[in-house]
Amino acid sequence: MKGVLLAGGTGSRLYPLTRITNKHLLPIYDRPMIAWSIEALVTAGIDEIMLVTGGTHAGEFLRLLGNGHEWGIDRLSYAYQDQAGGIAEALGLAERFVDGDPVLVMLADNVMERSIKPMVEAFRADPVGARILLTPVDEPEHLRHLGVPVLSAEGKVELIEEKPEHPASNFGVTGIYCYDAAVFSVIPTLVPSGRGELEITDVNNHYVNERQMAYDVLEGFWGDAGESIDAYYAVNDFVRANGANRP
Ligand code: DAU
Repeated sequence: MKGVLLAGGTGSRLYPLTRITNKHLLPIYDRPMIAWSIEALVTAGIDEIMLVTGGTHAGEFLRLLGNGHEWGIDRLSYAYQDQAGGIAEALGLAERFVDGDPVLVMLADNVMERSIKPMVEAFRADPVGARILLTPVDEPEHLRHLGVPVLSAEGKVELIEEKPEHPASNFGVTGIYCYDAAVFSVIPTLVPSGRGELEITDVNNHYVNERQMAYDVLEGFWGDAGESIDAYYAVNDFVRANGANRP
């Protein structure tokens, strides 16, 4: 299974910090943010990774990560996204790297207390369709900033709503997704959303409609360090006290 780490975008919610660097290079406790997502993939057994980034600070990732070996990565490739055209657009740049294999995609501003290994192993055992990772979220105000699944009485995902005004469940969709190689034929069919981006939620809804969507529920803390400056500090505080990616 290959890994794709998405570290592009504008980081506008963390301005002015992100005028002088890429969001994913900002510190989370004792290392740059990107290091925590690399650890998440490597400790789940994924050591062939493509990092997708963009903007004026892209070169700093090479300086930090080099060929990746020091970070436990066997093969590290890079792709450059010209514009912040959305998460799904960024993933599309990895098509030739993924080369028909199952793929785990991670948004590099997501940080978890617990390892994603169980999800990766479940998808490795049945690498068909898509598999997402949900996290319990109680506050509607927080859910309005996330993808939120509509669940049937049997617990099946019926639809995913992106940043819904009225969240239909108490789960947020985290930025960790497993796909089969068919994902690269879904991306060209997408149309830009209201915010002008190719949305990963539209990719996921394609799999929901095909009845090929599975999910796991994450245990422990989850944070999106790019959501707001307060979320950034909440993730820092958590990781400083507890670490991340624990088995
Ligand atoms: O963090 C989880 C949430 O991430 C999900 O619940 C949402 O369904 C999903 O759409 C996404 O929402 P955000 O609004 O937080 O996405 P954002 O635009 O902040 O992008 C998240 C990451 O994706 C960011 O760390 C960098 C990467 N990215 C984003 C864009 C727009 C790229 O690499 N390229 C891009 O063009």
